[in-house]
Amino acid sequence: MLAVAVLAAGKGTRMKSDLPKVLQPLAGSTLVERVLASCEHLHPERRLLIVGHQAERVESTLAAHHGLEFVLQQPQHGTGHAVQQLLEPLQGFKGQLLVLNGDVPLLRPETLEQLLEQHRRSGAAVTLLSARLSDPSGYGRVVAAANGAVSAIIEHRDCSAEQRLNNLTNAGIYCFDWPQLAAVLPRLASDNDQGELYLTDTIAMLSPAMHLEVADADEINGINDRLQLAQCEAVLQERLRRHWMAEGVSFTDPLSCTLSEGTRFGRDVVVEPQCHFRGVNTIAAGCRIGPGSLIENSRLETGVEVLYSVLRDVEVEQNCVIGPYAQLRAGAQLGAGSRIGNFVEVKNSRLGAGVKANHLSYLGDADLGAGVNVGAGTITANYDGVRKHRTAIGAGSKTGANSTLVAPIRLGENVTVAAGSTLTDDVPAGALAFGRARQVVKDRRG
Ligand code: UD1
Ligand code: CA
Repeated sequence: MLAVAVLAAGKGTRMKSDLPKVLQPLAGSTLVERVLASCEHLHPERRLLIVGHQAERVESTLAAHHGLEFVLQQPQHGTGHAVQQLLEPLQGFKGQLLVLNGDVPLLRPETLEQLLEQHRRSGAAVTLLSARLSDPSGYGRVVAAANGAVSAIIEHRDCSAEQRLNNLTNAGIYCFDWPQLAAVLPRLASDNDQGELYLTDTIAMLSPAMHLEVADADEINGINDRLQLAQCEAVLQERLRRHWMAEGVSFTDPLSCTLSEGTRFGRDVVVEPQCHFRGVNTIAAGCRIGPGSLIENSRLETGVEVLYSVLRDVEVEQNCVIGPYAQLRAGAQLGAGSRIGNFVEVKNSRLGAGVKANHLSYLGDADLGAGVNVGAGTITANYDGVRKHRTAIGAGSKTGANSTLVAPIRLGENVTVAAGSTLTDDVPAGALAFGRARQVVKDRRG
């Protein structure tokens, strides 16, 4: 039997933020959600989250995580005090308790598996994760013998100068035998520099206590301030880029690009400098993105090219060419081979195959059939000040430069709209529509 408890009650004073620390964002997720995700595959019987500072906000952010038990720690008297709050909900529980710090978000699932495996095999009362850090300042130091037995953890601020030289650091990740931990938790005292109850003090009370040293010290990075947040972001971004390069994606300037975990790439995608992917995206094989593009929650089929453009919540079929300087907003759907050029905005609109809107247009709440040619400066006037209305343009139609289509309006197939027209009425298939004043030229000589 396994229970997982995540410590997430602290304020995170050093972040200097109105947001509770565990809700700080990291590569498109929050710290606490990352920590929860790192133990999902272990299928624990119980999952408990200790909340305190802005508890309601943390709970509401995690409302979709079914089966998560929220345990309130109020006030917050340290990590030992946090785990004491489990004595009641875990009364009679006989298994292992995996404790995760809510601010240690880079743990790999395999590392937790290894920790559990070693713990179960050795029969220790507690096994904790450690790492050798080149700069261990701020972390608790693990006092361990050569055989891996741990006699104590001493917090940085409680260390003597000599103890500070020890760079074996405590990750804040522990696997306890719960009944043994429960027996010593009530004995914690606050005789330390912060006057708090330290979970780390239970280590010296439990025997045997063992540690597992992680190979990649980055995994145990704890986040206490903005600098560490940025450093963790950099580590995650590097992991993601390496992963996708190994899967056949080219980055011409990898460090200038950021990815999200929800973004999937096909083979032979080329990502040029300064491209950013957020949320959940599918970028199919052979797409060429950038330079200078932002893509969020979008699906691009094979062979799409995007140059200096912003795409959010859109679907793009194969071989479309987008940009430079296009904005595709929520609900834009582009048919295969469409071209969206400079300073064109598309929102909540379905474009058939081969539509061309190459310059200076707004297409909002519109349905365009295949092969429509949208002239430069064409605008769908979709908003009457109160409500939005739709524009329909039949396949093969052409709008002249500077056309304004006042919605609701329907143009049939193969319609031609004369340049400079403002149309307010429907146009039947095949017709030529003018909606402008006739040019008057006056001879002023006589
Ligand atoms: C803690 C460890 C330290 C370890 C480091 C790893 C203790 C005493 N020290 O130090 O040995 O090297 O993590 O990152 O445990 N929290 C609560 N309730 C509280 C206090 C904290 O839930 O009353 C939560 C925080 O929200 C946070 C986690 O516990 O997610 C760790 O707290 P933090 O104050 O950051 O501990 P550190 O000083 O980093
Ligand atoms: Ca911390």
